[in-house]
Amino acid sequence: MKLTNDRAAELKEDFPIFRRKIHNQPLCYLDNAASTQKPQAVINAIKDFYEHSYANIHRGVYQLSQEATEQYEDAHDAVGKLIGAGENEIAFTRNATEAINLLSHTIKPLVEGSTILLTEMEHHANLVPWQQLAKKEGMKLSFIRMREDFTLDYGDAEQKLADDCAILSVSHISNALGTINDVKRLVGLAKKNGALAIVDAAQSAPHGAINVKEIGCDFMAFSGHKMLGPTGIGALYGRHELLEQMEPFQTGGDMISSVTYESAQWNDVPQKFEAGTPHIAGGIGLAKAAEYLQNIGPESISAWEKELLKHTLESISSALEKGDIRLFNPGHKHSAGILSLNLAGIHAHDLASLMDDMGICIRGGHHCAMPLMNKLGVAGTARASFYLYNTTDDADRFVAGLKKAKEMFN
Ligand SMILES: Cc1ncc(COP(=O)(O)O)c(C=O)c1O
Repeated sequence: MKLTNDRAAELKEDFPIFRRKIHNQPLCYLDNAASTQKPQAVINAIKDFYEHSYANIHRGVYQLSQEATEQYEDAHDAVGKLIGAGENEIAFTRNATEAINLLSHTIKPLVEGSTILLTEMEHHANLVPWQQLAKKEGMKLSFIRMREDFTLDYGDAEQKLADDCAILSVSHISNALGTINDVKRLVGLAKKNGALAIVDAAQSAPHGAINVKEIGCDFMAFSGHKMLGPTGIGALYGRHELLEQMEPFQTGGDMISSVTYESAQWNDVPQKFEAGTPHIAGGIGLAKAAEYLQNIGPESISAWEKELLKHTLESISSALEKGDIRLFNPGHKHSAGILSLNLAGIHAHDLASLMDDMGICIRGGHHCAMPLMNKLGVAGTARASFYLYNTTDDADRFVAGLKKAKEMFN
């Protein structure tokens, strides 16, 4: 179903947090790229599990443990369905960061002197693990150039992918700029050159229709808390045959099939990658979030967020002078519902705290993308990011906040 302003306002009612006020004003939550709010359905799923079905999984022969095991295992399928994954292609992790760390510790083959290719707009989560791997294995790091308009230079990507690239790991949507990267094209180029292709979908899996088979990637990482789910749970998608070949990331209980004093045999995928007692309630909560998103329709979520962005950009251009604002966004056609900006003479943190006084939650800072901020020549930006429960009223409050901040600082 198409999302409209009325529908978004209706959806807001599913989220109990929107009943509270911040500084005596209705909560205007625009920090969805950092984390999203939770609908009652997700809260209830977690509560129900603890109240009625809680036990540790995989170990008990008793009914309660079997019920918990079934719910937790089924949760993998529900989450996989959202991104078009096949059976046993989803391993739960703590978050996208852990999923990428898992890969940087386990993928093979790694050839000394070959390149790990990223982009200039990566979140630290898709940068630092690869820096570590490059150091350890004597590999090189390279970055697909970002153009002046905040989109990637695909000609540069083509050249760099042809230059002994072993691993391509790219964000689908930049958390700092909103730029939607053409991952299908990049993955296609990577495959042509025999590289492994990884997609950081932390900002895309929550916000639109994704199909890993259509994209053709080998791996994909995302976090539950950015898609209406609980914190402490995320997912790694991997092509089954690759997950089968990989060594485990962490070892211990649950990830083994048999152990002697001297050695151990690994369990099947995904258990091989889920050592120790996992975040069982988290997995169940994330499955409920995936179901909620499916019911709304991922295409309608991305379309609505684009509309909100377009509306905001138009309002900004009529509310503020061009010289008063610097936008770090490729325009609504190439962007998800994320808008980074700076107001002349106002520090991003000051702007964010002024907005807070008005009940508006935005983020000010480097957005875990320090190299990108350096490239842009700024210490940070103020960022508003939309989700399915935001309305044009939220966008208008944000723009009014910008106007007020400008007047106050003048
Ligand atoms: C593009 C991108 N990748 C990775 C991450 C890391 O997510 P998490 O902190 O949930 O592991 C984020 C978080 O903001 C992100 O925006």
